[in-house]
Amino acid sequence: MSQSLFLDTINGVKRERPPMWFMRQAGRVLPSYMKLRETYGFKEMMETPNLAADVTLLPIHDLGVDAAILFSDILVIPEALGMELSFEGKGPSFATALKDVADPLNFLTEKPEKLDHIYAAIDRILEIKPKDIPLIGFCGGPLTTLCYMYQGFSRNQNFPDFVPAIYRDKELMKKVVAKITEMSIHYALKQVEHGVQAFQLFETHAGLIPVELYKEVFLPSVKAILGAVREKGVKTIYLPKGLGTGINMVNYDLCDCVSVDWQMPLHEVRSIVGEEMILQGNFDPRILESTPEAIDREFEYYLNYGRKDHKWIFNLGHGLLPSIPVENVEYLVKKVKESDWGR
Ligand code: CP3
Repeated sequence: MSQSLFLDTINGVKRERPPMWFMRQAGRVLPSYMKLRETYGFKEMMETPNLAADVTLLPIHDLGVDAAILFSDILVIPEALGMELSFEGKGPSFATALKDVADPLNFLTEKPEKLDHIYAAIDRILEIKPKDIPLIGFCGGPLTTLCYMYQGFSRNQNFPDFVPAIYRDKELMKKVVAKITEMSIHYALKQVEHGVQAFQLFETHAGLIPVELYKEVFLPSVKAILGAVREKGVKTIYLPKGLGTGINMVNYDLCDCVSVDWQMPLHEVRSIVGEEMILQGNFDPRILESTPEAIDREFEYYLNYGRKDHKWIFNLGHGLLPSIPVENVEYLVKKVKESDWGR
């Protein structure tokens, strides 16, 4: 047993309760974050190591979660491939999208030094974080990263130009994926070198294309990125949101832990992925937009699940939304910490 509930659980060690953290825990749901946002832009905060480190630790102090996730964004990989990113206005956008360039392979130019500020943030976090709270590093999944690179913005989450383009020229897409993969492996290994204690791959848009196409064009890349991290002895978490029946491709050869979206019940995922895999998830964040009574009702399933299965990390089915009242998040944290898990 170590000091960390999270690390023990992801290593398969039975603890007195499930560890808990939330995707987007350091964002706009926190009043302390909103206060900082009055002074700084999002990109400015993530690019200033001391600020990024402080923001990473806000949910540890304010909510009492059991793990910290690096305050950054998945779209730093396109930046390290030479694309110009902005977060002005509604969501992220690129100055030039891949859909508008004649030769995407030639357009992408490696600039790994663009990621240096993130390693400085990791160093700082490790200096100031509480000892028993591990730091989770991350990068985007290859499909999700490419959706944004190709379309250029996130306003239309169907990425209408991107999907036909995969069918039009699959071989070209595979070559672009190879570039993303290479930079992601470099980035992931640097994060490990600087001391992240677990690593999550966010494949938020896994449900955008047919499972077989995902398997052919993107899954080998996922396996390469997560495999490189695992080889260094750091545990890996794969979040394939909306993958549906494709969950049967997710096994212990691919990752140590699968982060489950809100669609699939945990017990069904358990029966598909086998006994060895750690599960994470999958409380619907929209429950937190309702009432404490609804939270109580929905929590029952999780309490019963966690009494039977200790290889499980409490998290949401996707990230916290800015519309969620922080009091409801605090209420949920209290329930996880104070319930009798029968262990
Ligand atoms: O989870 C965390 O708290 C760690 C930091 C983190 C952010 N983004 C901070 C962020 C992580 C892990 C991400 C991942 C990310 N970024 C994903 C995959 C996971 C997911 O949530 O779906 C995606 C698709 C992105 C790209 C991205 N970044 C979008 C589409 C947006 C705009 C939508 C939005 O919520 O504003 C962002 C901005 C962003 N990334 C914010 C934060 C805290 C909001 C910035 C702000 O205005 O303050």
